[in-house]
Amino acid sequence: DAPASVVVAIDGPSGTGKSSTSKAVAAKLGLSYLDTGAQYRAITWWMLTNGVDVDDAGAVAAASGKPVIVSGTDPSAPTITADGADASGPIRTPEVTAAVSAVSAVPEVRAAITALQRDIAAEAARTTAGIVVEGRDIGTTVLPDADLKIFLTASPEARAARRGGELKARPGDAGVDLEATREALLRRDAADSSRKTSPLAKAGDAVEVDTTDLTLEQVIECVVTLIEDKRRTA
Ligand code: DC
Repeated sequence: DAPASVVVAIDGPSGTGKSSTSKAVAAKLGLSYLDTGAQYRAITWWMLTNGVDVDDAGAVAAASGKPVIVSGTDPSAPTITADGADASGPIRTPEVTAAVSAVSAVPEVRAAITALQRDIAAEAARTTAGIVVEGRDIGTTVLPDADLKIFLTASPEARAARRGGELKARPGDAGVDLEATREALLRRDAADSSRKTSPLAKAGDAVEVDTTDLTLEQVIECVVTLIEDKRRTA
Protein backbone atom coordinates (compact mmCIF):
# COMPACT_ATOMS: atom_id res chain seq x y z
CA ASP A 1 0.00 0.00 0.00
CA ALA A 2 1.25 3.50 -0.88
CA PRO A 3 1.46 5.79 2.16
CA ALA A 4 -1.31 8.40 2.24
CA SER A 5 -0.05 11.73 0.98
CA VAL A 6 -1.74 15.09 0.75
CA VAL A 7 -1.52 17.63 -2.08
CA VAL A 8 -2.41 21.18 -1.04
CA ALA A 9 -2.88 24.10 -3.47
CA ILE A 10 -2.52 27.60 -2.02
CA ASP A 11 -3.38 30.46 -4.39
CA GLY A 12 -3.91 34.19 -4.07
CA PRO A 13 -2.49 37.60 -5.00
CA SER A 14 0.80 38.99 -3.71
CA GLY A 15 1.05 40.31 -0.18
CA THR A 16 -1.40 37.86 1.35
CA GLY A 17 1.35 35.99 3.20
CA LYS A 18 1.13 33.10 0.74
CA SER A 19 4.82 32.19 0.68
CA SER A 20 5.46 32.60 4.41
CA THR A 21 2.33 30.60 5.23
CA SER A 22 2.99 27.83 2.70
CA LYS A 23 6.60 27.35 3.81
CA ALA A 24 5.76 27.31 7.52
CA VAL A 25 2.82 24.93 7.07
CA ALA A 26 4.88 22.52 4.97
CA ALA A 27 7.73 22.57 7.52
CA LYS A 28 5.31 22.01 10.40
CA LEU A 29 3.59 19.04 8.75
CA GLY A 30 6.66 17.47 7.15
CA LEU A 31 5.48 18.18 3.61
CA SER A 32 7.41 19.24 0.52
CA TYR A 33 7.00 22.80 -0.76
CA LEU A 34 6.92 24.38 -4.21
CA ASP A 35 6.98 28.13 -4.88
CA THR A 36 5.63 28.39 -8.44
CA GLY A 37 6.13 32.17 -8.53
CA ALA A 38 9.86 31.49 -8.11
CA GLN A 39 9.73 29.30 -11.25
CA TYR A 40 8.14 32.10 -13.29
CA ARG A 41 10.67 34.52 -11.84
CA ALA A 42 13.56 32.17 -12.71
CA ILE A 43 12.51 31.80 -16.35
CA THR A 44 12.07 35.61 -16.48
CA TRP A 45 15.57 36.13 -15.05
CA TRP A 46 16.99 33.68 -17.59
CA MET A 47 15.32 35.58 -20.44
CA LEU A 48 16.58 38.93 -19.17
CA THR A 49 20.14 37.64 -18.85
CA ASN A 50 20.10 35.81 -22.20
CA GLY A 51 19.08 38.73 -24.35
CA VAL A 52 15.44 37.76 -24.89
CA ASP A 53 13.20 40.82 -25.36
CA VAL A 54 10.60 40.15 -22.66
CA ASP A 55 8.14 42.57 -24.28
CA ASP A 56 8.15 40.44 -27.45
CA ALA A 57 5.73 37.57 -26.75
CA GLY A 58 6.93 35.71 -29.85
CA ALA A 59 10.55 35.82 -28.71
CA VAL A 60 9.55 34.73 -25.20
CA ALA A 61 7.50 31.85 -26.61
CA ALA A 62 10.39 30.73 -28.82
CA ALA A 63 12.77 30.70 -25.83
CA SER A 64 10.33 29.16 -23.34
CA GLY A 65 11.69 25.63 -23.67
CA LYS A 66 15.36 26.55 -23.44
CA PRO A 67 16.26 27.07 -19.77
CA VAL A 68 16.36 24.12 -17.38
CA ILE A 69 14.59 25.30 -14.21
CA VAL A 70 15.12 23.12 -11.11
CA SER A 71 13.32 23.68 -7.79
CA GLY A 72 14.38 22.22 -4.44
CA THR A 73 11.28 21.35 -2.38
CA ASP A 74 12.59 21.43 1.21
CA PRO A 75 10.44 24.13 2.92
CA SER A 76 13.26 25.10 5.29
CA ALA A 77 15.72 25.64 2.41
CA PRO A 78 13.92 26.16 -0.91
CA THR A 79 16.27 26.47 -3.88
CA ILE A 80 15.89 27.43 -7.54
CA THR A 81 18.34 27.24 -10.43
CA ALA A 82 18.22 28.17 -14.11
CA ASP A 83 20.64 26.17 -16.27
CA GLY A 84 22.46 25.25 -13.08
CA ALA A 85 22.95 28.86 -11.89
CA ASP A 86 21.56 29.80 -8.47
CA ALA A 87 18.61 32.09 -9.19
CA SER A 88 17.34 32.59 -5.63
CA GLY A 89 18.87 36.07 -5.24
CA PRO A 90 18.33 37.54 -8.71
CA ILE A 91 14.66 36.48 -8.94
CA ARG A 92 13.80 39.00 -6.20
CA THR A 93 15.24 42.05 -7.99
CA PRO A 94 12.91 44.86 -9.17
CA GLU A 95 13.90 44.12 -12.80
CA VAL A 96 12.56 40.58 -12.57
CA THR A 97 9.48 41.66 -10.59
CA ALA A 98 8.67 44.23 -13.27
CA ALA A 99 8.98 41.73 -16.14
CA VAL A 100 7.47 38.56 -14.65
CA SER A 101 3.81 39.32 -15.37
CA ALA A 102 4.49 39.73 -19.09
CA VAL A 103 6.63 36.60 -19.31
CA SER A 104 4.21 34.47 -17.28
CA ALA A 105 1.30 35.53 -19.50
CA VAL A 106 2.84 33.78 -22.53
CA PRO A 107 1.02 30.44 -23.06
CA GLU A 108 4.22 28.56 -24.07
CA VAL A 109 5.88 29.65 -20.82
CA ARG A 110 2.88 28.50 -18.79
CA ALA A 111 2.80 25.14 -20.59
CA ALA A 112 6.50 24.52 -19.86
CA ILE A 113 6.29 25.57 -16.21
CA THR A 114 2.96 23.78 -15.59
CA ALA A 115 4.49 20.50 -16.83
CA LEU A 116 7.36 20.93 -14.35
CA GLN A 117 4.92 21.68 -11.53
CA ARG A 118 2.82 18.58 -12.21
CA ASP A 119 5.94 16.38 -12.31
CA ILE A 120 7.19 17.78 -8.99
CA ALA A 121 3.79 17.38 -7.31
CA ALA A 122 3.32 13.83 -8.58
CA GLU A 123 6.82 12.84 -7.44
CA ALA A 124 6.26 14.35 -3.98
CA ALA A 125 2.86 12.65 -3.66
CA ARG A 126 4.46 9.33 -4.58
CA THR A 127 7.54 9.53 -2.39
CA THR A 128 6.79 11.88 0.54
CA ALA A 129 3.96 12.82 2.94
CA GLY A 130 2.79 15.28 0.32
CA ILE A 131 3.35 18.81 -0.90
CA VAL A 132 2.15 22.39 -0.52
CA VAL A 133 2.15 24.14 -3.92
CA GLU A 134 1.64 27.90 -3.89
CA GLY A 135 0.83 30.16 -6.82
CA ARG A 136 -1.98 31.78 -8.78
CA ASP A 137 -3.55 28.97 -10.81
CA ILE A 138 -2.67 25.84 -8.86
CA GLY A 139 -6.21 24.96 -7.78
CA THR A 140 -7.81 25.98 -11.09
CA THR A 141 -5.35 24.65 -13.66
CA VAL A 142 -2.15 22.99 -12.47
CA LEU A 143 -3.60 20.60 -9.88
CA PRO A 144 -7.39 20.57 -10.27
CA ASP A 145 -7.49 17.30 -8.29
CA ALA A 146 -5.59 18.65 -5.27
CA ASP A 147 -6.82 17.22 -1.97
CA LEU A 148 -7.27 20.69 -0.52
CA LYS A 149 -7.41 24.13 -2.16
CA ILE A 150 -6.96 27.35 -0.25
CA PHE A 151 -7.36 30.88 -1.61
CA LEU A 152 -5.76 33.64 0.47
CA THR A 153 -6.99 37.22 0.19
CA ALA A 154 -6.32 40.54 1.99
CA SER A 155 -7.26 44.16 1.46
CA PRO A 156 -5.02 46.13 -0.96
CA GLU A 157 -3.84 48.27 1.97
CA ALA A 158 -2.79 45.24 4.02
CA ARG A 159 -1.04 43.68 1.03
CA ALA A 160 0.88 46.85 0.19
CA ALA A 161 1.91 47.30 3.81
CA ARG A 162 3.22 43.72 3.99
CA ARG A 163 5.13 44.06 0.72
CA GLY A 164 6.53 47.40 1.92
CA GLY A 165 7.70 45.73 5.12
CA GLU A 166 9.39 42.92 3.19
CA LEU A 167 11.17 45.34 0.88
CA LYS A 168 12.36 47.51 3.74
CA ALA A 169 14.08 44.50 5.28
CA ARG A 170 16.36 44.27 2.27
CA PRO A 171 19.82 45.82 2.60
CA GLY A 172 20.73 48.60 0.20
CA ASP A 173 17.18 49.89 -0.16
CA ALA A 174 16.91 53.62 0.31
CA GLY A 175 13.43 53.56 1.76
CA VAL A 176 10.16 52.37 0.45
CA ASP A 177 7.35 54.44 -0.97
CA LEU A 178 4.19 52.69 0.25
CA GLU A 179 1.98 54.36 -2.33
CA ALA A 180 4.30 53.29 -5.16
CA THR A 181 4.45 49.76 -3.72
CA ARG A 182 0.66 49.64 -3.55
CA GLU A 183 0.29 50.82 -7.13
CA ALA A 184 2.89 48.40 -8.52
CA LEU A 185 1.32 45.53 -6.63
CA LEU A 186 -2.20 46.32 -7.82
CA ARG A 187 -0.94 46.71 -11.38
CA ARG A 188 0.73 43.28 -11.25
CA ASP A 189 -2.38 41.65 -9.75
CA ALA A 190 -4.58 43.22 -12.41
CA ALA A 191 -2.27 41.87 -15.12
CA ASP A 192 -2.14 38.42 -13.48
CA SER A 193 -5.95 38.34 -13.06
CA SER A 194 -6.85 39.52 -16.54
CA ARG A 195 -4.44 37.50 -18.69
CA LYS A 196 -6.02 35.03 -21.08
CA THR A 197 -4.19 31.86 -20.10
CA SER A 198 -4.89 30.57 -16.63
CA PRO A 199 -5.34 33.85 -14.72
CA LEU A 200 -5.19 34.30 -10.96
CA ALA A 201 -8.56 32.93 -9.82
CA LYS A 202 -10.23 31.15 -6.93
CA ALA A 203 -11.24 27.58 -7.73
CA GLY A 204 -14.91 26.83 -7.08
CA ASP A 205 -13.98 24.28 -4.44
CA ALA A 206 -11.28 26.38 -2.71
CA VAL A 207 -11.56 27.52 0.90
CA GLU A 208 -11.16 31.30 1.03
CA VAL A 209 -9.21 32.77 3.95
CA ASP A 210 -9.24 36.56 4.35
CA THR A 211 -5.95 37.37 6.09
CA THR A 212 -6.48 41.15 6.43
CA ASP A 213 -6.95 41.07 10.20
CA LEU A 214 -4.96 37.92 10.96
CA THR A 215 -1.34 37.60 12.06
CA LEU A 216 0.94 35.27 10.13
CA GLU A 217 0.75 32.83 13.04
CA GLN A 218 -3.04 32.83 12.87
CA VAL A 219 -3.04 32.17 9.12
CA ILE A 220 -0.56 29.30 9.57
CA GLU A 221 -2.71 27.82 12.34
CA CYS A 222 -5.83 28.10 10.20
CA VAL A 223 -4.22 26.34 7.23
CA VAL A 224 -2.68 23.62 9.41
CA THR A 225 -6.12 22.91 10.87
CA LEU A 226 -7.69 22.72 7.40
CA ILE A 227 -5.04 20.21 6.28
CA GLU A 228 -5.34 18.12 9.44
CA ASP A 229 -9.14 18.01 9.11
CA LYS A 230 -8.78 16.96 5.50
CA ARG A 231 -6.35 14.19 6.40
CA ARG A 232 -8.62 12.92 9.15
CA THR A 233 -11.63 12.66 6.89
CA ALA A 234 -9.74 11.36 3.83
O1 DC B 1 4.26 34.88 -6.15
P1 DC B 1 5.25 35.77 -6.89
O2 DC B 1 5.04 37.23 -6.67
O3 DC B 1 6.66 35.35 -6.69
O4 DC B 1 4.91 35.48 -8.45
C1 DC B 1 5.57 36.16 -9.46
C2 DC B 1 4.71 36.26 -10.71
O5 DC B 1 4.56 34.99 -11.32
C3 DC B 1 3.31 36.80 -10.50
O6 DC B 1 3.24 38.17 -10.81
C4 DC B 1 2.45 36.02 -11.43
C5 DC B 1 3.27 34.84 -11.85
N1 DC B 1 2.73 33.57 -11.38
C6 DC B 1 1.82 32.94 -12.20
O7 DC B 1 1.46 33.48 -13.24
N2 DC B 1 1.34 31.71 -11.86
C7 DC B 1 1.71 31.11 -10.71
N3 DC B 1 1.23 29.90 -10.41
C8 DC B 1 2.63 31.76 -9.86
C9 DC B 1 3.12 32.99 -10.21
